[in-house]
Amino acid sequence: MVKLYVNPKVTKGHINPELQGHFSEHLGRCIYEGIYVGEDSDIPNENGMRTDVVEALKEIRVPVLRWPGGCFADEYHWRDGIGPKEGRKKMINTHWGGVVEDNSFGTHEFMELCRQLGCKAYVNGNLGSGTVQEMSEWVEYMTFDGVSPMADLRKENGHEEPWRLDYFGVGNESWGCGGNMRPEFYGDMYRRYQTYVRNYDSKKPVRRIACGANADDYHWTDKVLETVFDHGTGFMDGMSLHYYTLPTGDWSSKGSALDFDEKDWYRTLKATLKMEELIRRHSSIMDQYDPEKKIGMIIDEWGTWYDVEPGTNPGFLYQQNTMRDALVAGINLNLFNKNCDRVKMANIAQMVNVLQAVILTEGEKMIKTPTWHVFDLYQHHQDGELVESSIETKEAGLEDGYRIPDLSESVSLGKDGRLHVTVTNASLTESREIEGCFAESPVLSVKGRILTGDMRAHNTFEDPDAVHTVEFTDYTVEGNKVCFTIPACSVVHLAVEV
Ligand code: AHR
Repeated sequence: MVKLYVNPKVTKGHINPELQGHFSEHLGRCIYEGIYVGEDSDIPNENGMRTDVVEALKEIRVPVLRWPGGCFADEYHWRDGIGPKEGRKKMINTHWGGVVEDNSFGTHEFMELCRQLGCKAYVNGNLGSGTVQEMSEWVEYMTFDGVSPMADLRKENGHEEPWRLDYFGVGNESWGCGGNMRPEFYGDMYRRYQTYVRNYDSKKPVRRIACGANADDYHWTDKVLETVFDHGTGFMDGMSLHYYTLPTGDWSSKGSALDFDEKDWYRTLKATLKMEELIRRHSSIMDQYDPEKKIGMIIDEWGTWYDVEPGTNPGFLYQQNTMRDALVAGINLNLFNKNCDRVKMANIAQMVNVLQAVILTEGEKMIKTPTWHVFDLYQHHQDGELVESSIETKEAGLEDGYRIPDLSESVSLGKDGRLHVTVTNASLTESREIEGCFAESPVLSVKGRILTGDMRAHNTFEDPDAVHTVEFTDYTVEGNKVCFTIPACSVVHLAVEV
């Protein structure tokens, strides 16, 4: 029996709903086919957005959506995507598969999608190949309420009212596809560009997000902050971090999403656990410049990245999704919760049909992946208060390496007054008996759900419900204790009334 300690009297910070955010890029079949099929499609839609996909995303309460990229963002010129669709420019999406981008999904469509989802809007601007004027005018187009060239143009295009733009990214991966810059140069560019990201309505500020590091590039974080903080603060609301989980760590041969063994399982989860170190070390650099933690760490690209499914376009990054992805999701979402004093947003890459997607589509068919089910279990943490907790772990893994701690957890106090406990068990062979001690608080009731299965279990278009959550009843309650057994390879949510 291992112990889970929960102290309901000590809360440690607010869990922004945005920790469960998503990312949608003009890449492969994410936007086109996956979300947007156009008004004339036979697939049921509202203003071009697939009804089945929107409904499935609403179920997990998507809090925020990042768009249009990714690498695409720094090649995207927003004026190409407004106005009558027949007049919109066609271009080649050089970055992703060399396919024709007809710009039929642009600013108006993105904002309509956010409206349908009821989520916040996070637009990523083009610093790599766009001008300051272009970026500035996009923000004016979206948010200015009054008479101005851009506000008038928006009205001409059918949207009288400004939209609420919650977050704006000033460049994406500026160290790589976004311009191959050095951090000092990017820091200066950021200072300049963000100056013209105006807050036209001080009651609805646009939060500016600087491009942060690639994984463990701590030098980038330090130098960008040093450059931006050179003349005081107030320039930045968030700084991004990108980290992808690759089973092999080798970009030229990442490994298969479906065809993997126990060794791949453990090394993937070991790779994902690196997120803890990344958050800790980037945070400690941020603490030097921003000890009050006003600047959010925005992990706006995370998730698994495998070799594409055989026979699919290599530029489309389409991959299947198994219980391994469910564990990756559960472990990362627990980590984000535990670090909610600094981590203010995280966006899984990507929402539909790309990388670690929560939804996959094929023609008119749609399936929810194991990762969707984890977001479903964890949505109870949204807007909760992180509660002090810890769990005893044992080592899981193989004799010849790739050993990891078996369990991970986080606990929040929800708006419903219940404690929400999420636990993952990454062991492939051992279930764990856990004694949950809720300080001095007597436990009044418990409700649970579990996602479990074989490590390669996944949903297909032929068998869309092979992996799904069920009620979890394997627990007993006595006084202030809940004893429960978490099976190998599973993710559990308990709602505990104390
Ligand atoms: O998510 C796919 C790509 O990964 C994004 O376009 C880029 O930002 C990152 O390298």
